Amino acid sequence: MINKVLITGATGLIGRELIKQCHQEGISVNYLTTSKEKIKNTDNYKGFYWNPQKREIDLNAFEGITAIINLAGASISKRWTKKYKKVIIDSRVESMNFIYETLQNLEHNIEHFISASGISIYPNSKTKLYTEEDTEVDDTFLADVVIAWEAAAVKFKDLGMEVSKVRTGIVLAKEEGALPQIAKPIKLGVGAPLGSGEQWQSWIHIEDIAGIYLFILKNQLEGKFNAVAPNPVQNKKMTKLIASKLDCPLWLPNIPAFALKLLLGEMSVLVLEGQLVSSHKIEELGYSFKFYNLENALQDLL
Ligand SMILES: NC(=O)c1ccc[n+]([C@@H]2O[C@H](COP(=O)([O-])OP(=O)(O)OC[C@H]3O[C@@H](n4cnc5c(N)ncnc54)[C@H](OP(=O)(O)O)[C@@H]3O)[C@@H](O)[C@H]2O)c1
Repeated sequence: MINKVLITGATGLIGRELIKQCHQEGISVNYLTTSKEKIKNTDNYKGFYWNPQKREIDLNAFEGITAIINLAGASISKRWTKKYKKVIIDSRVESMNFIYETLQNLEHNIEHFISASGISIYPNSKTKLYTEEDTEVDDTFLADVVIAWEAAAVKFKDLGMEVSKVRTGIVLAKEEGALPQIAKPIKLGVGAPLGSGEQWQSWIHIEDIAGIYLFILKNQLEGKFNAVAPNPVQNKKMTKLIASKLDCPLWLPNIPAFALKLLLGEMSVLVLEGQLVSSHKIEELGYSFKFYNLENALQDLL
């Protein structure tokens, strides 16, 4: 039975929902935050300061902890300058290395290390369905990030822990993340499918991504897990469904790929590429999705 978990990046989109679900299950949460003003202290929710860059950490965060969920990472949606790319990588890899080094020198009872990861490790494809068994990797910056991120997570095995990597799809939530970004131009009457519109979007509802973390935690599952809903859709279908739920007709032709490449540069892979990813493994292990179809997810979120 798990009583208390330590979460990094807990104040973000996924973390906030995960904390809610942990509390519903009677699991207390300690969290590490890089912002002192986000520190709260209640019976089942305690914040501790860390600054991975300066190698500062409040060791009290580890007291009574048997598992860590690592969600820390700077946003990938800001301009990928050379400098910011380093921030994207370091905020994931160096922060994890810092926890690793800290635990090497600390007496603790941590048995399970669960880390966020991404489906962008899989190559862009319109036809291939990716499972956790697939070993091909994409040649994009984001794939490089995921490879380094997972390698840093796997090291925790050396400390005697089970390690899990949660290859997360596009998280759909009301206020933050991809959905408000996609909905905005549609609401303004200028929405359209992107590029060919045929790129796959392996999405997941916010309640399910948090539910999968909790499921992995409670069942002490180790290994790689795709965290995507069972029915991915292509970009044009997602755009049309959102438009129809918002009652805002689409009238523009697809936005051409070359224009998106000009506008976004290397970051255009975020909108022009996609992977068709299988949720079979986690379902076989007994996880029951709340939101199987995009239509139901959007009904709930919009
Ligand atoms: N949302 C998605 O669609 C999606 C998809 C695939 C993978 N993921 C991954 O899942 C994880 C959680 O996602 P999310 O959507 O909840 O992210 P989020 O809302 O951006 O939250 C991430 C949290 O990481 C912490 N953080 C930010 N910059 C940091 C830095 N430089 N060093 C250390 N910590 C830093 C922040 O917490 P403090 O301010 O409290 O430190 C922030 O609240 C991320 O690693 C993300 O890449 C998300």
